[in-house]
Amino acid sequence: MTHTKDLPTPANPGPFGHAQRKNFLFPEGYTQFNHGSFGTFPKSVQDAMIEWHQRAERNPDLWMRRDLYSSLKQLRTDLGDFLNCSADELALVTNTTQGANTIIRSLDFQPGDRILQFSTGYVSVDKTVEYVCDTLDDVKIVQVPVTYPISDEDLLKKVEETVEAHRQLKDGSRIRLAIVDWISSVPSILHPVHKLVDYLQGEGILVFVDGAHSIGQVPVDLTALHPDFYITNAHKWLFSVRGSAVLYVAKRHQAKIHPTSITGDYKKGFDAEFAWSGTQDYSSLMSISDALKFRKQYGEDAIINYTHRLAVEGGAAIAKILGTNTLTPDDHQVANMVNIRLPIHDFDHPTLKENPNYIMDLMFDKFNVFTPAFKHDGKWWTRVSAQIYLELSDFVRLGNIWKEVCDDLNALVLTNSRQ
Ligand SMILES: Cc1ncc(COP(=O)(O)O)c(C=O)c1O
Repeated sequence: MTHTKDLPTPANPGPFGHAQRKNFLFPEGYTQFNHGSFGTFPKSVQDAMIEWHQRAERNPDLWMRRDLYSSLKQLRTDLGDFLNCSADELALVTNTTQGANTIIRSLDFQPGDRILQFSTGYVSVDKTVEYVCDTLDDVKIVQVPVTYPISDEDLLKKVEETVEAHRQLKDGSRIRLAIVDWISSVPSILHPVHKLVDYLQGEGILVFVDGAHSIGQVPVDLTALHPDFYITNAHKWLFSVRGSAVLYVAKRHQAKIHPTSITGDYKKGFDAEFAWSGTQDYSSLMSISDALKFRKQYGEDAIINYTHRLAVEGGAAIAKILGTNTLTPDDHQVANMVNIRLPIHDFDHPTLKENPNYIMDLMFDKFNVFTPAFKHDGKWWTRVSAQIYLELSDFVRLGNIWKEVCDDLNALVLTNSRQ
């Protein structure tokens, strides 16, 4: 492990910051502040993806019938090393939504089974649970209500209280599965996932870790975490091409987990069932190997340390410009995405009610930037993503843009009230 003092920092970015812009596809004048939603990838990864694509087209039969399998196997081995687990506990899927559907819709829920989820879970995962509850007899949701900021200890306590309150119902039902975000989406908070897995498994509950944002943003050691199920998007923070995600299923559960699309390999075992998902372009998945190569030249410690520190320092800089605060005062609850309160005085601003895209359009059209704005606990927030191609000066520029947007919105209310 590199000594922390030798790693690039926002004050001393070394190979990161604007020096990285040449490695990405952004046009001159555009700065990307929302890596968290859809990710983006370096040019070298795009070139490599095109090469995988061309390799398939040079001889489709050779690729689809033979070379694809050995290439995917090698990739799973490399990912097993990266995530510290066995390659045969991993499957490659298109995205977290597909991974979550795979797990939640494979489990043989019985009447009386309950699924524990947080009120801040991701919408498509929540809706998958809702679908399962709608289609099965007496399978229901148990929700942990979460409002941020909350300390790790209080979050754990809330989960324990929810599980205990359910136990006290004594109605014959049991919490069978819990879904835990490693890093939630909006607001974006890094959760104490190891402690949550330990506690929930200790209560006899299966745990599915939604780690959509984890690989590439925090160190992931699946042997240490020992979840029952885990999914992560490589196309967010690892830098692979969109449409590439990694699913982990502990060996003891593999017999009951099947892909969302059943193929001719049904009942041939976990490896075979997940290796082939029908005729499709596999080059995005293969680009994960090239993303790993891109990262290796800098090292995970260097990337993770720089982006985390930039999120913390950049978030503080924006909050200072806006005269507000970041959502969590604890740096350890921030990975690369930071939530900053927006000084929009009217929570139910009439312009935003009338046109929910007003802020987004203004940011696209007037300022050529974007970060999501959202409501949480009676206030407006934005989520800003730090990445190796950004510097502190970018955050300062974004802070000034957000100030102008908020001033504009506050003035609109005043103007309207005078009319
Ligand atoms: C926590 C979480 N889960 C699931 C997803 C869904 O990811 P995808 O759209 O790649 O399927 C996201 C997307 O941002 C997310 O933040």
